[in-house]
Formats: sequence, structure tokens, C-alpha cells
Amino acid sequence: MEPAVLRHLLSSVILGSVIHGSGVSALNNGLALTPPMGWLHWQRFLCQTDCKNYPSSCINEQLFMQMADIMVSNGWLKAGYKYVCIDDCWLAPNRDKNNRLQADPDRFPGGIKKLADYMHDRGLLFGIYQDVGNKTCAGFPGSRDFYELDAQTFADWGVDLLKFDGCNYGTLEDLEEGYRRMAIALNRTGRDIVYSCEWPLYARQEAHVNYTEVAEYCNSWRNFGDIDDSWASVKMILDFTATLQEQLVPAAGPGAWNDPDMLVIGNFGLSWDQQVTQMALWAIMAAPLLMSNDLRAISPESTALLQNQEVIAINQDPLGIQGYRLLKVNNFDLWEKPLASGSLAISVTNREEIGGPRYFLLVRAILWDGLSCDACYVTQLLPKRYEYGYYNSSQVLKVPVNPSGTVLLRLE
Ligand SMILES: *[C@@H]1O[C@H](CO)[C@@H](O)[C@H](O)[C@H]1NC(C)=O
Ligand SMILES: *[C@@H]1O[C@H](CO)[C@@H](O)[C@H](O)[C@H]1NC(C)=O
Ligand SMILES: *[C@@H]1O[C@H](CO)[C@@H](O)[C@H](O)[C@H]1NC(C)=O
Ligand SMILES: *[C@@H]1O[C@H](CO)[C@@H](O)[C@H](O)[C@H]1NC(C)=O
Repeated sequence: MEPAVLRHLLSSVILGSVIHGSGVSALNNGLALTPPMGWLHWQRFLCQTDCKNYPSSCINEQLFMQMADIMVSNGWLKAGYKYVCIDDCWLAPNRDKNNRLQADPDRFPGGIKKLADYMHDRGLLFGIYQDVGNKTCAGFPGSRDFYELDAQTFADWGVDLLKFDGCNYGTLEDLEEGYRRMAIALNRTGRDIVYSCEWPLYARQEAHVNYTEVAEYCNSWRNFGDIDDSWASVKMILDFTATLQEQLVPAAGPGAWNDPDMLVIGNFGLSWDQQVTQMALWAIMAAPLLMSNDLRAISPESTALLQNQEVIAINQDPLGIQGYRLLKVNNFDLWEKPLASGSLAISVTNREEIGGPRYFLLVRAILWDGLSCDACYVTQLLPKRYEYGYYNSSQVLKVPVNPSGTVLLRLE
């Protein structure tokens, strides 16, 4: 498809839904009107339950309390990262005698309610994990046959977000019915609980995914497999997203987000330029910003990148339009994200993995036609802040981009 045709297709779908309110109707719980931001343990801490050999990195209440303390003391909460989320492996091997879920008593001796209170006392919110099937991915008791009871248990504990996985789901019908039932059960508790689904990821293995329906039940949803701490994984997620953008982009909006999975910035696998690429593109994609890293040991550079307020503002733009890949040319990827008030965010990624910086020549004619400025003021936000100044429709902007790096621009 011609880039211009694609842009017009997407822009008219998007603008149609924004202006006429006739787009996908999101889950109507008033939550996640901008993409959720926080911290989630999975990618960095996995299912480490051996607290004897890994006392400071096993999945226990200490880990979450320490992250919470740092989120408050080191500027994360102030930057917008509110949710502290547990992933798999917090459960005891069995339900209690009343079939209620219970946390592993050795690793969470205070229980989950106390941990949720700990977060709330510090102005943070608390996320938990369960699974639609009869076992979680790591083999702990799943929610199948207990959706209503588990939703009520989470509400009683003070949970603010549920990540609902899809392992061991049974049939496609079980999967879909399970996601719907949990949505209804959460709603009936009366508590505000963001509902983060993996429905399309599993449904894709069986059938065509109906994003209209997914968005009616879920606040966010995973489409692809888990991210890992590597450039290969980040690239794969970006290419998956771009390939499916005609389905994914129109489904997103306030209260309903495609989730390309966690930010792995600040770990071991990404170079500096690749960390910049992940941050820039997760902002462009209006992705939930859920970091999975060790906030007790993260570099000042990665901290500054993750806390960059102008980049976060692009992610959190109130229009809630998910950006899309406009152009793939000469091994550059160009994405754009329309912002409120006729502004625009643009990212240029250099997909070469050899050589040095290359120039991308940006001409106005290919960009979103809803831009409200004629001579737009251009600010580069990443990798370093730099003001290009005014840029009109007869000029060409010459942007140097490092191999596997990204330049993020704002036009206003
Ligand atoms: C768990 O679900 C699977 C289908 O995914 C089913 O075959 C199995 O019998 C179930 N096990 C129990 C204990 O319910
Ligand atoms: C439950 O759903 C209704 C109808 O969509 C909505 O108005 C209400 O805010 C929801 N409540 C909660 C707690 O999610
Ligand atoms: C997708 O779901 C929506 C809302 O539930 C429904 O109206 C529509 O018919 C479904 N589309 C298909 C192709 O099944
Ligand atoms: C764009 O800016 C350049 C340089 O300032 C100027 O020479 C040119 O006339 C401008 N073109 C338009 C269409 O405004």
C-alpha cells in the first residue's frame, strides 16, 4: 500500500472516531483514559521463588515494597509511574478452604491486602496478576470457575489493576467467555480496577481477533508474545505492530490500548540508542509504560530517558491516538502520532546495524495533513533535546540518526 494511501486511511478512521465519536467504544469504566504507567516485575525478575539463594531478587513482598519506596523517593511517581504490579508466581500452590486465592505464605507473610495498603499509603496504585485458565502460565491456580470470587477477592484486597493472562485457556470459547466474565465480575465489585487482557494474543492462535469486542471489555490488551531484554525482541514487536496497524490503530483510544509489553530500558540487553528507540516508539504507539527493571540499580541516563516529561507527554496525549508507521524507506522507519491541538510527533529510526549516523530528509508533504501549523516549530526530544526552529512546507529537514537509534521530533 502506498504510504500516502495508508496515512489517509488511518487518519480518516482516526479523525472520524475522534470528531464524531463513532469509533470503537472502549470499556466504560472511566479508567486508563491515558495509557497506564508503572512498574511490572516479569521481564526482570521472572518466576524466581528461591529466596534463599536470591534474597534480593526473588518474588516476595520485600521486592515490591522496595520498588515502591524508590518510586516515591527517586521521582518515578512524580514522573507519572503510578502502578506497582505483581506478575505471575505470587500465589500459594492451592486455594484456601473457602476456595479463595492466597499468596505464598513464606514470600508474602503480610498478605496481599497489606501490600496494597503499603502502596496506597505512598500515593501509588497496586496491580496483580491472574489467568483466565485453570492454571497460570507458571502453574499456579488459575481463575477458571472462580471469576466472580477472585474479582471480589481482588477488590477486597484493594487491587487497582489486574493483568489477566491466557495460559491453559481450554477452547477459544472458554477463552473469550472467561475474559468477558472477568470484566463483568470486576465491574460488579464496584471497585475501580484497570483490566489488562491478553485475549488477542491467545485468540490469534485460533481465529481472527475482533478488536471491537476486545476494546469493549478490556482497558488494554497484549497482541504478541512476551518481550525480552534484546534489540531483536524490540524490533520484532515494532514490525508486528506496523504490519497489523490497520487493525490495531483504530481499536486504540482513551480507555483502550494496544499493549506491546514492558519497557526493558535500564537492563542488560539494549544499547543506549536502542533504549532511545524503545522509549520513543512506545510513546508514539500510545503504549502502556510499564517498566520492568531494577529501580534499585539503574543508571542516571536510563532514569532520565524513562522520566523525560516531554516524551511522556506524547505518550499521554489526551487525544489518545496510537501512532503508526508512515514510511519504510532506505532502511529508515518513519512513524507519526497526531497530537491534541494539531501538533504532531514523528520518530525516525535508522534500521541499519552497521556504519555511522545517516541523514533522513524529512519533507512536509508526506506528513499528517491535520497539522495546524504552516511554519511549524520543530523540537527534537530524543536522543537529545535540540530546537530546529521553524520549518515550512518548502523546506527539507535533515535529521541525523544513529544505527538502531531513533530521533523523536515534535512539530507544533
Ligand atoms: C484444565 O483445563 C484443561 C483445558 O485447558 C482441561 O483439559 C483440564 O481437565 C482442566 N483441569 C482441571 C483440573 O480442571
Ligand atoms: C460498570 O459498568 C458501568 C456500565 O458500563 C459503568 O457505568 C460503571 O462505571 C462500571 N463500574 C466500574 C466500577 O467499573
Ligand atoms: C465484533 O464485535 C462487535 C461488538 O461485540 C460486534 O458487533 C461485531 O458483529 C463483531 N464482528 C464480527 C466480524 O464478528
Ligand atoms: C520557507 O522558509 C524559507 C526560509 O526561511 C523561505 O525562504 C521560504 O520563502 C518559506 N516558504 C514558504 C512557502 O513560506
